[in-house]
Amino acid sequence: MRRAVYPGSFDPMTNGHVNIIERALEQCDHLIVAVARNISKTAMFSFDERLEMIREHFVDEPRLSVASFEGLLVDFAANNNCQAVIRGLRAIADFEYEYQMANMNRKLNPNIETIFLMADPNNFYVSSRLVKEVAILGGDLHGVVPDAVRDRLVQKVQSR
Ligand code: PNS
Repeated sequence: MRRAVYPGSFDPMTNGHVNIIERALEQCDHLIVAVARNISKTAMFSFDERLEMIREHFVDEPRLSVASFEGLLVDFAANNNCQAVIRGLRAIADFEYEYQMANMNRKLNPNIETIFLMADPNNFYVSSRLVKEVAILGGDLHGVVPDAVRDRLVQKVQSR
């Protein structure tokens, strides 16, 4: 059974993430979408909200589970019997950071392979950071994030 983990901040999940998840599911038997708890980013959504948005969207996908993790990604992967880490690559700007992470992770645990999926052209420009900025400034996010995420972004901005 091929198991993979797709880690990230998912603050919030975008259509770019959704596309990578759907394609990653074609490459493995089970995918764990893992929300990292230990990153020093200022988040808009709580961990529970992020997990909930992913779970809600993929409620009908039995081959996907959603979890959060603290500590090293390779330890989470090994403890959950995952042989691969999935990452999406958008612009060249992503490459250096991803290359460093993939190699550091390989050094930490050579049994876990990082697999990169290229972002599809529709989502090449989409990032959680820009999505939050556009939401705060009242822009239209139709087609950029799932509708349920868009509703939550609107609520979040209104409640600020
Ligand atoms: O979506 P992001 O914010 O780019 O995801 C980054 C993430 C969560 C994949 C990365 O920060 C991570 O793996 N954090 C876990 C801690 C860890 O293992 N650090 C060493 C990685 S080389």
